[in-house]
Amino acid sequence: MIIVFLGPPGAGKGTQAKVVSEKYRFTHYSTGDALRDEVNRKTQIGLSAKGYMDKGLLVPDEIINAVLKNYLQENNDILLDGYPRNISQAEKLDKILTELNREVNLVFYLETADDIIIKRLTARRVCSECGRIYNNISMPSKKGDICEDDDAPLILRDDDRESVIKERLNVYYTETQPLVDYYVQKGILRKIQGKKGIQDLLQDISEIIEARHRYDS
Ligand code: AP5
Repeated sequence: MIIVFLGPPGAGKGTQAKVVSEKYRFTHYSTGDALRDEVNRKTQIGLSAKGYMDKGLLVPDEIINAVLKNYLQENNDILLDGYPRNISQAEKLDKILTELNREVNLVFYLETADDIIIKRLTARRVCSECGRIYNNISMPSKKGDICEDDDAPLILRDDDRESVIKERLNVYYTETQPLVDYYVQKGILRKIQGKKGIQDLLQDISEIIEARHRYDS
C-alpha cells in the first residue's frame, strides 16, 4: 500500500508518519528528512537544496525526483511524508508508479489553521543527531534541552523562524494545496482535523487504514 501525508508545514505529518509507520510497518519516506540528510553530509544534492530550504521555498523537482525514484522501486508499503508537494510532482509520482504497476492508495490531508501552525513550529525542537521531533509546549523532552534517546542537543530548524514559516505557508497555499482537489477527484483523499491531539489523530488515521485493509482482504 502507498499512503501520502498531505498538509501545511507543522500540521503534524512527520509526527504521525513516524508512529503510523511503526504501528503498521510502513517504510516512512520524508523528502524533508532525506534533503536535510543530504545537506548535513554536504553532498552535491544537499548543496543545491540548502538555499531553497533556508528561504522556505520548494526545492526544484529534478532534485526531488532523483532522491525519490530508487525508494519507490525498493520498498513495498510506503508512507510518503512531504511528497508530492505540487501537481507536477504528483503527476510524476503517478507516472513512476504506473511503470511499476502500482498506485497511491490513500491520502491523509491534515487540515490545520495558520495560527496553530505558527505556535507549533516556533516551539518545535529536533534532535541534532537522530532527528527526533519534540515540542516545547506539547511534547517537551524529559531531559530538558537534550534528546531523551541519545543526549544530543535539541535545535531549532533554520526554517522554523517566524519569517520563514510565513513564506512556507505562502508556498503551501500556492503550490501544495491544489493537491487536495487532485486527490479528491481520484477518490482517495481523507480529511483529518490536524488541530486534534497526537493520540486522537493517530486514532482517526488508524481507523481509516484498518478499514482499507479490511476492504482489500
Ligand atoms: P519538510 O521537512 O517536509 O517540512 P514541512 O512539510 O514544512 O513540514 P514540517 O516538517 O515543518 O511539519 P510536519 O507537518 O511534519 O509537523 P511535525 O510533525 O514536525 O520540508 C522542509 C523543506 O524541504 C521545504 O520547505 C522544502 O524547501 C524542502 N522540501 C521537502 N519536500 C519537498 C518536496 N517534495 N519538493 C520540494 N521541496 C521539498 O510537527 C510540528 C510540531 O508540532 C512538532 O514540534 C510536534 O511535536 C508538534 N505537534 C505535532 N502534532 C501535534 C499535535 N497533534 N498537537 C500538538 N503538537 C503537535
